[in-house]
Amino acid sequence: MSAQQIRRAAVALVWVLPLLASTVPSAAGAQATLTIEYDRPLHAVSPTLYGLMTEEINHAYDGGLYAELIRDRVFYRREHHEFIKIWSLDQNAEDGMSWAIDDATGPSSALPYSLRLTAAKASPRDPGGIDNPGYWGVPVWPHTTYHASIYLKADGRNPGPVTLAIVNDHSGKVLAQASFPAAGAHWKRYTATLRTGAVRESEDNCVRITISHPGSLLMNLPPLFPPTYDGQPNGDRIDLMDKLAALHPKFLRFPGGNFLEGNTLADWYDWKLTIGPLVDRPTHPSPWGYQSSDGLGLLEFLQWCQDLHMQPVLAVYAGYALDGMHIQPGPQLDPYVKDALEEIQYVTGSPSTKWGAVRARDGHPAPFALKYVEIGNEDFFDKSGSYGGDHGRFAQFARAIRKAYPQLKLIATMPIKGDVQPDVIDDHFYKSPRVFFKEADYFDHVSRTGPKIFVGEWATIQGTPTPDFGAALSDAAWMTGLERNSDLVIMASYAPLLVNVNPLAAQWGTNLIGYDALHSFGSPSYYAQVMFSRYLGTQVLDAKLQHAGPLCFESVTRDAATHTLYVKIVNAAPQPQALTVHIEGASDVAQAGTLVTLRADSTHARNSLAHPHRVVPHTQSVHWFGKDVRHVFPAYSISVLKMHVR
Ligand code: AHR
Repeated sequence: MSAQQIRRAAVALVWVLPLLASTVPSAAGAQATLTIEYDRPLHAVSPTLYGLMTEEINHAYDGGLYAELIRDRVFYRREHHEFIKIWSLDQNAEDGMSWAIDDATGPSSALPYSLRLTAAKASPRDPGGIDNPGYWGVPVWPHTTYHASIYLKADGRNPGPVTLAIVNDHSGKVLAQASFPAAGAHWKRYTATLRTGAVRESEDNCVRITISHPGSLLMNLPPLFPPTYDGQPNGDRIDLMDKLAALHPKFLRFPGGNFLEGNTLADWYDWKLTIGPLVDRPTHPSPWGYQSSDGLGLLEFLQWCQDLHMQPVLAVYAGYALDGMHIQPGPQLDPYVKDALEEIQYVTGSPSTKWGAVRARDGHPAPFALKYVEIGNEDFFDKSGSYGGDHGRFAQFARAIRKAYPQLKLIATMPIKGDVQPDVIDDHFYKSPRVFFKEADYFDHVSRTGPKIFVGEWATIQGTPTPDFGAALSDAAWMTGLERNSDLVIMASYAPLLVNVNPLAAQWGTNLIGYDALHSFGSPSYYAQVMFSRYLGTQVLDAKLQHAGPLCFESVTRDAATHTLYVKIVNAAPQPQALTVHIEGASDVAQAGTLVTLRADSTHARNSLAHPHRVVPHTQSVHWFGKDVRHVFPAYSISVLKMHVR
């Protein structure tokens, strides 16, 4: 052993002993080493690597991110002539109350119908009306202001002012209320604010809309909003936006997913029906079994991007429906291509353009920067083969978009044969831990000659409604591969992102962030992603892991500007992993760093509404001497070691 080796061994001991009382031998027999060539960056880390994928699934928007508290606020599914039975007649005055949909009058051409509420015997002592349970409850906080509005029209004998109240389900107590004036002869929107007093935080509440005199009136669209992110009207839930911001996302892929496509050709995501005043949005069926309010529409997606400094990855509808039907490429597809061009103009055009002017009218004169447009979603399901090829749906969209917007990068949803090639291919990976562990090096072996890769949906499927720690380990192992290969994989987004954890709210098993009406929590996978995106670096370094156990994974990056080295180690084994991190090509290695660890005793460990912080990252300062860093990475752990190196 050379003098230098002896010194290193002694030094390693000095560092390891105080820090790691639980040190046990490595899972592998020989000493495991991670050798890092600090002066040999292989390529840049894609600056857009981590982002968000989103769609209306699991009540991600309605009953989730979109802060609206009233469920099914338009009462009716017109395409099915179906009254939405989530509403109920207030029991107090049921004998005297009746209700019906009036299909002949409504506040707009998008909502040409309304609810007729009739009271035979209502009085100020015994008002009658309708209840809405919210999205599995209505959240109430003390000393909080809510904003309400409603469209009203008189209908015969006028029952006077309309009251909107938040009422506790158990006590029947009114926690906040406001009144709208008596309806006039024409449709009109009325607004009001409600304020709670010194009430207790709760979610077992409903919204009650009542009248207190005999008579009849017509109503529609009664939104009710609590405080929203940045105080924006028609805005987003604050706790969820904060959680998303902590992921440091660089892009938002929207509006789907299957939500872009719809179950049938008639149910496609028609973006023009999701912009402008809420009263001009007719709502439409989500393929996930419920009606989408479209209150979070195209401009709200863009606003969301602006709020979290993400670039939009705009998916345009490409003529395929989930029932397997497609629009034939050629003249039949032309209107959809035109529609996509108009959508791009709505996003990027100056207010002097037709659709840029509409966006300005909608409240956002400044154009949004757009680089990526995705054409369709998962078109490999289209067994007719109408998507690929030079005469396919992709090529028809691509030619038209490139002609009008040559600067845009186009994403295809499957590999394309023919001359019209995409810039990027969106590839999806929903796997078990076993497969992700095995395929963590998948992209190490993929050819670099074709288009770049966007992993637009990925997740370890394990844990419901949110992933357990075993899934987080597998997710993290997979992410080490994404990072190492981010010359090829330029973007990646976990899916689904959001889930309302009430049993009837979710359609998908494993989802990143859970919530009910009042609270939210991040899963262990969420925290793994927070760590990976926060400590990303700008260059991938040449690094070799030797003699470690088969469930040990690494990614090594540096931030060239700040001389910061990031070593990510995932030890998914049930034993600790001792590892020597050996840094070559550096003239100066700092003797202290930061170690962030996410760990659990069991792969079954999970977070929940009741226990949101069972598995969260812990940060500690660490010290050592010399260029080698020895550490025993605990069983079932995800770690980032951050240190300064020159
Ligand atoms: O993420 C859930 C669904 O999985 C998406 O809507 C779809 O694109 C994929 O099949």
